[in-house]
Amino acid sequence: MLVLGFQGSPRKKGNTSFLLTSFMQAAESLGAQTQIIEVTQKNIIPCKEYVVCEKKGFCPIDDDLKSEIYPLIRQAEVVILASPIFFYNMTAQLKAVVDRCQTFWARKYKLKLCDPAKKTKRGFLLSVGATSGKNLFEGLQLTAQYFFDAIDARFGGSLTYRNVEGPKDMAKHPTVLADVEKKVSALIKPLLGRKKILFACRENACRSQMASAFAQYLAGDKIEALNGGSQPANHINPDMVKVMHEKGIDMGFRSPRPIEDAIANNTPEVIVTMGCGEECPFVPGARIVDWDVPDPAGKPLDFMRQVRDEIEKSVKDLIKELK
Ligand SMILES: Cc1cc2nc3c(=O)[nH]c(=O)nc-3n(C[C@H](O)[C@H](O)[C@H](O)COP(=O)(O)O)c2cc1C
Repeated sequence: MLVLGFQGSPRKKGNTSFLLTSFMQAAESLGAQTQIIEVTQKNIIPCKEYVVCEKKGFCPIDDDLKSEIYPLIRQAEVVILASPIFFYNMTAQLKAVVDRCQTFWARKYKLKLCDPAKKTKRGFLLSVGATSGKNLFEGLQLTAQYFFDAIDARFGGSLTYRNVEGPKDMAKHPTVLADVEKKVSALIKPLLGRKKILFACRENACRSQMASAFAQYLAGDKIEALNGGSQPANHINPDMVKVMHEKGIDMGFRSPRPIEDAIANNTPEVIVTMGCGEECPFVPGARIVDWDVPDPAGKPLDFMRQVRDEIEKSVKDLIKELK
């Protein structure tokens, strides 16, 4: 399970960085995978309001958001926004990321698609400010809340500190580490006890992508769905994306990956194989379930729909069996 954190301060070793790093260390100690995006070191172009996302569901701007950050936001089950207060909101650099996530807003509200992980996805806010006014975090809270809604994450709370100004102030705070531990535990622990299931096929372009998305969508609170291919293709299959969109499930920003990557930091308890045969992985202790699902690649769209429905039914049966 990936916890993704956006570090929005231009100070590399300042208060926000300390707070986010402590948060991530606590999450890792519980068994989560973590990744921090140092926003000020990325090539992020602010939104140009081309409105392409509202019509087509993608942003035409070619930068680190497109190549790296959109897919990570989709992959993560917990997304952390961390920023110092700059004029009663987040830093401009982080706000550029938030604005460009209008793409997710458009996919959700204009194209009526939902993130397959919406059942479990959580957003969390970390912030510091130099002054002590009652309304110090209000602007930021509102922006963060709308951002989390756009990426289909439920707002999982916040940790905010007033009277924090010099770069080392946060590190000297008497209760910060205990505060972080408490919040991380409440946020992460419920997601870590889920049954890990790997869905594997040959190319990880159709069948295992659909199966893992259905598993997340239908039972993400009980299943941590992994997916991979024995010979991953370069891209996911556009017909598969189309038929999943007919079900309202957004398959955007995904790409095929090798089975080894999928299980590098995760030991699945069940491995569902669909056509990867001999090449499917051996994981000691894992139960292997083989689904006889034909490869829909290159076949008519209706065949892709039939395979989608067959996989949905098999996932539902699997969920019932796991209860
Ligand atoms: C451009 C700028 C604007 C700021 N605006 C505010 C503000 O509106 N309210 C406040 O309390 N602190 C404000 N601050 C202070 C920072 O929030 C504070 O120093 C914080 O601890 C910096 O965190 P960092 O070390 O993570 O960068 C501002 C600082 C800068 C540089």
